[in-house]
Order: sequence, then C-alpha cells, then structure tokens
Amino acid sequence: MAAFPQLVFSGVQPTGNFHLGNYLGALVKFVEMQAKYDCVYCVVDMHAITVPQDPAELTMHTREVTAAFLASGIDPKKNIVFNQSQVSGHAELAWVFNCVSRLGWLNRMTQFKEKAGKDRENASVGLYAYPNLMAADILVYRATHVPVGEDQKQHLELTRDIAQKFNNDFAASIERLGYGDAFFPLPEPIIQGPATRVMSLRDGSKKMSKSDPSDYSRINLSDDADQIAQKIRKAKTDPDALPSENAGLSGRPEAENLVGVFAALQGVTKDDVLKQFGGQNFSSFKSALVDLAVAKLGPVGSEMKRLQADHAYIDDVLRKGADRAREIASHNMTAVKDILGFVR
Ligand code: TYM
Repeated sequence: MAAFPQLVFSGVQPTGNFHLGNYLGALVKFVEMQAKYDCVYCVVDMHAITVPQDPAELTMHTREVTAAFLASGIDPKKNIVFNQSQVSGHAELAWVFNCVSRLGWLNRMTQFKEKAGKDRENASVGLYAYPNLMAADILVYRATHVPVGEDQKQHLELTRDIAQKFNNDFAASIERLGYGDAFFPLPEPIIQGPATRVMSLRDGSKKMSKSDPSDYSRINLSDDADQIAQKIRKAKTDPDALPSENAGLSGRPEAENLVGVFAALQGVTKDDVLKQFGGQNFSSFKSALVDLAVAKLGPVGSEMKRLQADHAYIDDVLRKGADRAREIASHNMTAVKDILGFVR
C-alpha cells in the first residue's frame, strides 16, 4: 500500500462527567502524541446526539471537553482542536460509508448491543450507524494513527475494514485518478500503557463510565481534592496485601485497577508500582494514591473550570480549529466525489 503522511486523529463525546478513564485512556496520549505528530482532536457532538441530549447541556459539555483538552496541555495552535458539527465533511463521508459498510459488520458491534440494551427496536438509527460516522471522522483526514482506550478497539477494526473495502471497490477509479493502490490508509489504533481500560471504583468488572448512575464509580476531572480523596478511600478493594509482581494481580480486578491508575498517573509501569508497594495493605497504598491523584488531577481540573467559563475563548478555539479542519476535509471529499463519479 502507498505510504501516507502520518497524522493523528481522535475524538471525545461531549456527554458530561468527563472522567479519569477518559483522561488516562485518551487525553494523556493525545498530549504525548503532539510532540511527534500533527494531530487533529475533535469534540464529537454529532456522535453525542445518537442518544437524547438536552441542547443547553450539549453546548456546556462541548465547552467542558474542549477545556479539558486545553487544560491537559493540548496546544490548539500546533494541533487542530474543533467540534465535529462545524465540518460538514464528517456527515458527507459518513453517508458514503453507510453505503460501503455492511449490515453484518454493524451487527457485530458490542457497544451498540450494550447501549441499545433490551429495547433495541427503540434505539436511534444513528446509534446503530455510529461506527460508520466514526470511520468517517478518521478517514476524512486520511489519518494514520488513532489513540483511544481499549473500548474503541472494535470500532477501529471496523474503520480499517471500511477503508479496505472502499480501496478495493473503487480500485480502478483510485488508480486512474493517480492515487496509486489505495486512497485511504488503514489507521492504526494506539492503545497503550497501564490504563487503557480504567474500571469502576465500585466494581472492578465494569468499565469506568460517564453513564454509571453512581458518582462514586468514577473520578470526574471536575472533582475537587476532597471528592477525589473520598472516592479513592471508598473504592472497593480486597482484604489481601498488594503483591510484589504483576502476576499477583490476576483475579484481583479492583487491586489491578488501582495499581494501573497509580502507574498511569505517575508515568511508570505496574511492576514499578508493585516494587514500591508490594506487601503493603490498601490503606497505605490508597493514601499515596490520593496524594498522587490530587497532585496530578487537581491543577488540570481547576484550569479546566477556569477555561470552561470563558465561552468566548473556547468558542474561538473551536471556530479557528474548524476552519483548519474544513480545509483538509473538503480537499479529501472532493477526491472522494471524483473517485465515486459524482459530478461537481
Ligand atoms: P468516548 O467519548 O466514550 O471516550 C473518549 C475516550 O476515552 C476512552 N475511554 C476510556 N479509556 C480507558 N478507560 C475507560 N474506562 C474509558 N472510558 C472511555 C475511550 O476509549 C476514548 O478514547 N466513539 C468514541 C469517540 C469517537 C472517536 C472517533 C474516537 C468518535 N469518533 C474517532 C477516535 C476516533 C467514544 O465514544 O469515546
């Protein structure tokens, strides 16, 4: 396959309760990647409306996620930061992909099954077709690398299948127009580190999630030091001391989760953490985790709140980012239209 210029794309839904899993699984990676790559980071408001949203809250949460990006250290001058609905190329390419992607592929998506629940007949068509829009988000920029948490892996595999099928179905046209043997890259998921799947603090078998009814299940980026401390102290654990090696965490999901969170916040491996805390009980480990979490998350949370209140600044960042994103997306959409044979 032809070589594509390296470009990073990722997105976060503005659905409130931006939490530690989003921060460690996604944002920390976003920040790391900007040193090495050109990056496009998107607040995916069109994804959010696949389930009902209150319009005023959607606006607020869009600004909240943008503020979280900036407070974590994403530089909106170097990278492109914007909200999805301002760039029509996402919706246009999603339609094309609705016609490339197969029902059988979407039927296998576990996240749809989880989100639609028992009342599947009543789920929106958008919720079902959501992975096609996600593929369009990435491929409208012909992005090559996608940092995400573990839960997005299946959607990334589908994105690669869609890119591959488009390249095959239109191979002759792609070749004739001078794009070689592939128009779309097969984007690589970047799922790395000790916190690719942060679990609920109440139940180590469930993912930490924005929609968990218990606020004690997650640490929100907006939590203050007291809330962070309380949630960690109340977090479920088991009665044993911490092991000295990674292998000793197997079958102990709550312990594994807290060790993973510590490692990710500190920027070390789980083994490093266990070297330090192996043999100690949870109360001393939790105290150290509270100190670390407050030291790392506190400043990000307060900067996020400060930025979030400055609507004019946030909206300006999004508008300028969208202008830059639109330029790339519309250039690529023109090529897609030519490949498909649309008259323009
Ligand atoms: P969303 O908004 O649910 O989550 C944003 C990012 O946070 C990661 N994440 C987690 N990581 C570790 N532990 C957890 N408990 C946890 N919960 C969430 C997610 O994996 C994600 O990286 N479909 C996507 C948004 C999206 C997107 C895209 C992502 C839309 N288009 C294109 C990448 C590329 C979603 O719902 O993420």
